[in-house]
Amino acid sequence: MTREVGIGVIAMGWMGMTHSRAYQQVVNRFPDSGVVPRLKVCADTDSDRTNEACRRFGFERTAEDWREVLDDPDVEVVSITSPNWLHREMCLAALEAGKHVFCEKPVGREPSETREIAAAAQAAGLLTFTGFCYRWSPVVQHLLALIKEGRLGQVTHYRGRFFCGYGHNPKSVLSWRFDRNKAGFGVLGDLMSHALDMALMLAGPVAEVVSENETFISERPIPSQAGTHFAVSEDGPVAAVTNEDYVGAMVRFANGARGTLEVCRVIGGSDCEHTFELNGTKGSARWNFERMNELELFLDDQAVERPGYARLQSRPEFPRHGDFNPGGAVGLGYEDLMTIEVHEFLRGVVAGEPVEPSFEQIARVADVQAAMARSWETRTWENVTAE
Ligand SMILES: NC(=O)c1ccc[n+]([C@@H]2O[C@H](COP(=O)([O-])OP(=O)(O)OC[C@H]3O[C@@H](n4cnc5c(N)ncnc54)[C@H](O)[C@@H]3O)[C@@H](O)[C@H]2O)c1
Repeated sequence: MTREVGIGVIAMGWMGMTHSRAYQQVVNRFPDSGVVPRLKVCADTDSDRTNEACRRFGFERTAEDWREVLDDPDVEVVSITSPNWLHREMCLAALEAGKHVFCEKPVGREPSETREIAAAAQAAGLLTFTGFCYRWSPVVQHLLALIKEGRLGQVTHYRGRFFCGYGHNPKSVLSWRFDRNKAGFGVLGDLMSHALDMALMLAGPVAEVVSENETFISERPIPSQAGTHFAVSEDGPVAAVTNEDYVGAMVRFANGARGTLEVCRVIGGSDCEHTFELNGTKGSARWNFERMNELELFLDDQAVERPGYARLQSRPEFPRHGDFNPGGAVGLGYEDLMTIEVHEFLRGVVAGEPVEPSFEQIARVADVQAAMARSWETRTWENVTAE
């Protein structure tokens, strides 16, 4: 049996295009799941972008005012892929309009906005989802299953890192990401949200943190036109960067494990190095998104045959790999993770059941971010509390 789900996408930048392509791939990749997304309407203040989205993805219509998406009775699910300063207003309005909402991380500019949005979703009883795409890598899901089976024992240590190069060049323009009023926090929201989602999923809740931040490049060229966050401008006026380039933290997990988390957007060499290393009493694992189809794994119970780390390639036996490729080591890419995530959400919508990572998960992430930000001021350990 098939079930059609009307989709609206708000803001057709990088993520709006990516979400649209992912919805388009659902029937192609998951033909037996019965979920059939219908791309109804896309909205952006830039009509060139919505027209291009229509041409590429076959949306039935476009809108310049995002509220039209929420007024459309055929739209059941809304993807909110706008810059952070618009998340709060758009999410609250979408929930008010009775839509199920998939909002890109960090869901608001600050932990207080994230929690407000999550509370509204809970009160509305609607389904929500967040763009923590990296967790859907088949090798990461395979590791999660092993951890749940107890194969790695009790987690004792976790090291997470997300190093990016998009701000490495001081001539990279002052896009909204570098503006406190528009983005809210800098990498605490942008990159630490991803690192924390992974850490909480694999190692459990965080109890305490001590954290530092820094802005290494204090001013950047003002963009002369709308561009991507990879745009560079060699001349012209500059203005101040008003949020942080770097956040580092030591963390104590509730289960007693110790760890470190570090994120930075001005690293040369690492373009998208989202990586973790997890050590348990019976095994260890490490992963790096830049080689997202590989997992390094050591298990005590296989130590005789495989002393030290073994390098596993993603393969059809791992969750969702077989929906993309029938062969081992025939790898998936970033946008395949997006296809998996929109399918997971739509399965939940069709079943009427909450799915993770919902706004509850991003609220848990926000609680840790809030403790990190407090620690920048107090320069000491801070408890993670739900506020
Ligand atoms: N999950 C991930 O891996 C990932 C990656 C990149 C970005 N993101 C998140 O996605 C969101 C969007 O980032 P992006 O890189 O796609 O941004 P972007 O700058 O590429 O695009 C933003 C779009 O929003 C549009 N817009 C601005 N104001 C609008 C309004 N009032 N109504 C409708 N549209 C409006 C702009 O015209 C533009 O098309 C951010 O919250 C970001 O954190 C997530």
